[in-house]
Amino acid sequence: MTSQNSAVTGVDRSPVAIGDNHRVVIFDTTLRDGEQSPGASMNLEEKLRVAEGLEAMGVDVIEAGFPVASVGDFEAVKAIAERSKSSIICGLSRATKGDIARCAEAIAPAPRKRIHTFISTSPLHMQYKLQMAPEAVLERVKESVAYARTLVDDVEWSAEDGSRTEHDFLCRCVEAAIAAGASTINIPDTVGYALPDEYAALIKMVMERVPNADKAIFSVHCHNDLGLAVANSLAAVRAGARQIECTINGLGERAGNAAMEEIVMAIKTRADTMNFTTEIKTEAITKMSRMISTITGFAIQPNKAIVGANAFAHESGIHQDGMLKHAGTYEIMTPESIGLSRSTLVLGKHSGRAAFRQKLVELGYGDLGDNAVNDAFSRFKDLADMKKEVFDEDIAAIVDDTAVRANDRIKLVELDLRCGTANRPPHAKMTLEIDGVIESRDGTGDGPVDAIFKAIRDMVPHESVLELYQVSAVTKGTDAQAEVTVRLRENGKSVNGQGSDTDTMVASAKAYIHALNKLLVKREKTVPDGIAV
Ligand code: KIV
Ligand code: ZN
Repeated sequence: MTSQNSAVTGVDRSPVAIGDNHRVVIFDTTLRDGEQSPGASMNLEEKLRVAEGLEAMGVDVIEAGFPVASVGDFEAVKAIAERSKSSIICGLSRATKGDIARCAEAIAPAPRKRIHTFISTSPLHMQYKLQMAPEAVLERVKESVAYARTLVDDVEWSAEDGSRTEHDFLCRCVEAAIAAGASTINIPDTVGYALPDEYAALIKMVMERVPNADKAIFSVHCHNDLGLAVANSLAAVRAGARQIECTINGLGERAGNAAMEEIVMAIKTRADTMNFTTEIKTEAITKMSRMISTITGFAIQPNKAIVGANAFAHESGIHQDGMLKHAGTYEIMTPESIGLSRSTLVLGKHSGRAAFRQKLVELGYGDLGDNAVNDAFSRFKDLADMKKEVFDEDIAAIVDDTAVRANDRIKLVELDLRCGTANRPPHAKMTLEIDGVIESRDGTGDGPVDAIFKAIRDMVPHESVLELYQVSAVTKGTDAQAEVTVRLRENGKSVNGQGSDTDTMVASAKAYIHALNKLLVKREKTVPDGIAV
């Protein structure tokens, strides 16, 4: 295997310290591969919040988007670049001059920037998707990387469908990309087909066979179609890769990408056998996971590793007994290490603004700004009046909900609902603010939710179909806040919306409105999701 030391010393543009053989670069693509997945679109303000959170948690490279996809994507990457301080801001581009130039323009304001350009290299993709001969693809690799290098110093090249690419051809492409100036080489398992030992062998083979491999950092980008994305990424690091591309909560195309929280906690927890480090402040994991779930409307399954509601819960008597005697009996990491507080009851209706602010800091929301804190505090007071016990999860739901709504084009102003056993149809009187204009409508329906949704549809006409309506509780108890997820589908594209409130009907209205706001964002995209050259 090629010594990674020499690879690192040859790459002064990498975030890895020279000569550091143990440091793994964390490349987060939640805002690109994650946002590209069905239903997960985010608006500008949401993307800025996510980028700010990723930078604060120590992400080395933030893939902020795909600038050529739409004006909205371009503006978002540019705004993230303008606000960035320490992380490298990366934009994705296909292997065309137009894409690359647009990408360079979007990332230009960032103090540290990277162009990530890719082209498919597998026989299947070249023949059917690109309809290009291998030699033409190879030429395009050279041209695209060389052109990107005229615009920025830091260029990453990806061999799309790399894990299904013929080895000789893959090595020729990698060598050409490095010779043209790429300092990071990514070999994606685009379709999540690889097995850990075979993927590790592939990375090792490329690093050994490509003569100029020591001039680049090798990166992996694994999809989770067989549930192996994290295992494949870790196996590749053992084989010599030093950058992992991943997303919060494993968001991403189809079954998603490798989950950052799982990768980082595996590296940290198994330091006895995995002698690697990352710069991620793991205490930020819970906050970021909740933020992504609220913004995208993708609920986290309770038994999801690291961030699922049950990940640190102990129900059986035997386990509880063990835990009381020694936490290590059933916990391999502490909840605190991922920013999950062990305290359950936090604030009550007599808690003041100072205590509330202090709680926000403890939960990792220290820098919200006065307006957002005031809005969240007033919602907290309303909640504390209705609910005996206010838990950390309640506060997080309020803050995420408040921040998520702040810049929506459509906002809920009021909902007045009449329903019950009386023999008359449920009736909703809704007031919305749409692009700053207040409008009201009445709606009747087969049930209260139907009445609410009809009144909204009347004010915001649209053709989308309701694909999912799901209710869950944020905490235990009959006074718990309801968290509602709504999925809408229009012209083959779906969006998720989420809303929380102690009143399930209000939460439903918020979730539907949130989904509609996302639909407005999604309509702007011009490049199809299956990004082809
Ligand atoms: O999955 C993939 O191959 C990608 C590339 C664009 C890196 O997302
Ligand atoms: Zn991908």
